[in-house]
Amino acid sequence: MILPIYTFGQSMLRKQAEDITPDYPNLKELIENMFDTMVRADGIGLAGPQVGLSIRLVVIDLDGLKNDYPEFEGYRRVFINPRILETGDETSVMEEGCLSLPGLHEPVRRPTKIHVTYMDENFQTHDCWVEGFEARVMQHEFDHLEGKMFVDRLSALRKQMVKGKLNDMLKGRFSCSYKVKAIR
Ligand code: NI
Repeated sequence: MILPIYTFGQSMLRKQAEDITPDYPNLKELIENMFDTMVRADGIGLAGPQVGLSIRLVVIDLDGLKNDYPEFEGYRRVFINPRILETGDETSVMEEGCLSLPGLHEPVRRPTKIHVTYMDENFQTHDCWVEGFEARVMQHEFDHLEGKMFVDRLSALRKQMVKGKLNDMLKGRFSCSYKVKAIR
């Protein structure tokens, strides 16, 4: 089932999300729905709050990037209750987009290496260092669980430059090819 994606201005996107347990209702189905919703919208990651659920659940699908990054062939993962424990000192800048911010693509600076813990869909715990593009996508998605969006991380100048677009979004003046739940 395709779920509507909550867009900028929805208060759900600003809430701290809660941990879940294996008995979370219809979790398997929810995970499938999130993958379907994300793929349909041409996204590579989707977090619970983006579909209106204040829960620490993220799906990431990097398989579509396998032409540029062969190591991502078959990469389709679920992250439950993830936490970033520490980050490396090195940072890099890369352009990011977000299904909750249709039409916006901006350069964002982030650490290149992160130490994360999370559980997979079988509630097996993982604890590892991740780097490069995978670390970038994880940081973007895990931010959603803290009520953060990539526009919060822009330089003062870029923030000023996207203000108009964000205001348009709040007024419902944007277009995208997927189903959304905008504030009006
Ligand atoms: Ni996003």
